[in-house]
Amino acid sequence: MATLEQSAEGSETIHADGGEGVRRRDFINVAALSFAGVGVVAATLPLITQMNPSADVLALASTEVDISKIAPGQAIKTIWRKQPVFVRNLTPQEIQAANRVPLGQLRDPQTLAERTKPGKANWLITLGVCTHLGCVPLGTGEGENRGEYGGYFCPCHGSHYDTAARIRKGPAPINLVVPEYRFVSDTVVQIG
Ligand code: FES
Repeated sequence: MATLEQSAEGSETIHADGGEGVRRRDFINVAALSFAGVGVVAATLPLITQMNPSADVLALASTEVDISKIAPGQAIKTIWRKQPVFVRNLTPQEIQAANRVPLGQLRDPQTLAERTKPGKANWLITLGVCTHLGCVPLGTGEGENRGEYGGYFCPCHGSHYDTAARIRKGPAPINLVVPEYRFVSDTVVQIG
């Protein structure tokens, strides 16, 4: 039979027949904490739901580019996540020039194939942000200085990038960064 005792500290102990004691106050505390936990989860769920990105934020996370009008030898500058992105349609000669460079000569060794998609070596897509201190290199516009290696030239401190947008000369430590992208079709690329 269960009995109830008052301890010296004032808490009550219920004794079951087996003699094991359970403090009633402890039990009440555990129960109260459990309810509090449920309350916190219930209050947090709407907040987490609110923190999920909305459709317009998701749209900003990626951008689609129509590449159908970029002729071989031309490039465009677009914007993705508030950063310039260069999309270049390389000529066969520019592809050959990139493939001729021994990797051992490169500061940041990467082949053109590693920087483009399979079967689409002519489409070179990079961030238009110099990896030195973040200036926007020249080379997308008609007649702009493309540097000594025929790719891009950063006028801020003189970084030269080649036709695969790899750093060849100047202070930039690494190649122009290739962002995540995929071909939605032959003429549309989704960046991000
Ligand atoms: S920011 Fe491009 S060379 Fe310095």
